[in-house]
Amino acid sequence: MVNPFQDTLNALSAQNKRRTLTRAGGLDFSSNDYLGLANHTGIRTTLIKALENGLPLGSGGSRLLRGNHPAHEDLETFAADFFGAEQALFMGSGYLANYSVFTTLPARGDVIVYDALLHASAKEGLHASKAKSIKFAHNDVEDCKAVIKRARTGGAKKVWIAVESLYSMDGDVAPLADSMYLAEQYDGYLIVDEAHATGIHGPNGRGLSTVFEGRDNLIAVHTCGKALGQSGALVTLPAVLKDYLINCARSFIYTTSPPPLCAVAVKAALDVVDQDPQRRTDLLSLIKYAHMVFDNVTGSSQILPLMVGNDGAAFELAKNLQAQGYDIRAIRTPTVPKNTARLRLSITLNVTREDIMGLAQALAQTQAQTQAQAQAQTQAQTQAQTQAQLNQIEAKLI
Ligand SMILES: Cc1ncc(COP(=O)(O)O)c(C=O)c1O
Repeated sequence: MVNPFQDTLNALSAQNKRRTLTRAGGLDFSSNDYLGLANHTGIRTTLIKALENGLPLGSGGSRLLRGNHPAHEDLETFAADFFGAEQALFMGSGYLANYSVFTTLPARGDVIVYDALLHASAKEGLHASKAKSIKFAHNDVEDCKAVIKRARTGGAKKVWIAVESLYSMDGDVAPLADSMYLAEQYDGYLIVDEAHATGIHGPNGRGLSTVFEGRDNLIAVHTCGKALGQSGALVTLPAVLKDYLINCARSFIYTTSPPPLCAVAVKAALDVVDQDPQRRTDLLSLIKYAHMVFDNVTGSSQILPLMVGNDGAAFELAKNLQAQGYDIRAIRTPTVPKNTARLRLSITLNVTREDIMGLAQALAQTQAQTQAQAQAQTQAQTQAQTQAQLNQIEAKLI
């Protein structure tokens, strides 16, 4: 029987692209638990206490029905103050937050102008939006402006500029001041996905867009599953937009709200960022060290893309390092553009300087071995070809 699902899976296997679920193992060079808060003792104690004090395990419904718990509201009040925003709205994940923002706020006739490297969750949202969406070249302000101008000439109403503050696979930073300038110039909005900056970068780890917080045209998505070590996302935004999302975002209305425990955990994590700045200082120093060790990597953030190019080669290299006890992952198409496969090296407080140096040495050795093997293979092939030619000549002479 023809099974198109199996056929697709087989095709993925043939291209070395079939995904499988594996358990975490080895030194953590791949998670987004940058500040090491996913296993923080103080947060764990807070959660145990909250449960012992009767916090419900589940929320029991949508936020608009019985699922609105004081823990959600507490977190939102705390977060708005933390990020210096007018309001904050807590959602079950960054994916859901991005999807909700893009499918709800931009209207038919508007245009969403987005960076080519914007995260898949935001792209899902903007593709499902009633507004038209057009991409611009990565971090290219001039291209962004040109796209907006063309869209406006074509009759676009509101302009929504969508960027990440720190790009998840390249580790480089967006020119946010320029993007905000363009948003203001064209009377538009700026949507900033702060996923990889929240808790680490910007004033006191508040994210890179915080300097613009309080403006009525800024929407920021602070995911809570990365440096904060928990799950969910906080959208910071003007009060009127929060109210609009609560009323009109189908992906907020028609879903069970996150367990109150998640809200308690995120609030506790924000508290740690606030009260224990040494963690950030330690991480920033470890990041600096990693960039000294891997000195040919662009950017200066905790995400270091070690470029390989070919999907298969990146996969093999990662597999080899994993076998040596380093949990580092290959990122391949379609997550990154063709021929830009890489090892995404992520620096977290779960590793030490010695671990980083160990990885660098293991990588250099593995690359040298792979190169030597490839050379030996090419040499053997050339020898075999030459021998075959000699055999042919000899056969003709006889
Ligand atoms: C830039 C960016 N935005 C959004 C998300 C989605 O966040 P979450 O994992 O909370 O769904 C991710 C996570 O992979 C991300 O890297």
